[in-house]
Amino acid sequence: MAEFNTAAHLQEVLDSFSHCEDARFKEIMTSVVRHLHACVAELKLSPEEWISSVKFLTATGAICTDKRQEFILLSDLLGVSTLTVGINQHRGDDCLEETVEGPFYWKGAPELPLGADISTGVSGEKAYYYGKVLDANGCAVANALLDVWSGDGDGNYDMQLPEQTEMLARGKFRTDAQGRYSFWSIKPSYYPIPQDGPAGLMQGKLERHPNRPGHVHFKISADGFYPVNTQLFVANGPYLESDCVFGVKPSLIVNYIEHAAGITPDGKHLNSTYYSVPFDFRLTAA
Ligand SMILES: [Fe+2]
Repeated sequence: MAEFNTAAHLQEVLDSFSHCEDARFKEIMTSVVRHLHACVAELKLSPEEWISSVKFLTATGAICTDKRQEFILLSDLLGVSTLTVGINQHRGDDCLEETVEGPFYWKGAPELPLGADISTGVSGEKAYYYGKVLDANGCAVANALLDVWSGDGDGNYDMQLPEQTEMLARGKFRTDAQGRYSFWSIKPSYYPIPQDGPAGLMQGKLERHPNRPGHVHFKISADGFYPVNTQLFVANGPYLESDCVFGVKPSLIVNYIEHAAGITPDGKHLNSTYYSVPFDFRLTAA
């Protein structure tokens, strides 16, 4: 039986890109097609398996909405998001590490005064987050913007709650002249990624657990510094060693210090126990 010439076929496809004037796009497409052809040839992918792949990607797109991004989740679960972050990171010695943004960022959170409470309507134990934004030498960075979001104490983001149309546990804060920031939110729980879509089903079929350790997201930007998209992880919580999206960095694990009810660091009186979370963000100069 005559053999199909896979190398000649690949070359024919690559040659068809010869008129492309966008050099970077051509480079990307050439690499993608090379790897895709190699993958199909190596696997001897059957027509049935190929159509399963098409159906999987079709379903991944079909479940996406303005509040659900299944492709980002898929990228996260396959480690591609963490890889992209890692190879593009600009990080000075001992400066803040980046990690994945995840699929639950909601653009347009309100800018709030320092010390504001974004835990209204959010389940979970209260936590006071505070510290400074600094440069690599430890000098204060004034007017840095922190865009904060997290899930709740039960492991759900606002976007996942049925009937929830308003933002919860989200806000933007600007550092003061001494580089200080502070706000109240909750101690987030670990959570499973959505399992009712193609990415979650893939995760199950790979016999991997679907959980992320508890964390708070931060996008931090300031004039003269590389913007950082990162997360702080709750120390001693479950899944720190096996985050399903491979996002945990030891430098981002923080202690949540438990306090009895009483006067808080910012002079409020709380009737319940709460946590304080001190953390300084050290930015890398651009
Ligand atoms: Fe998250």
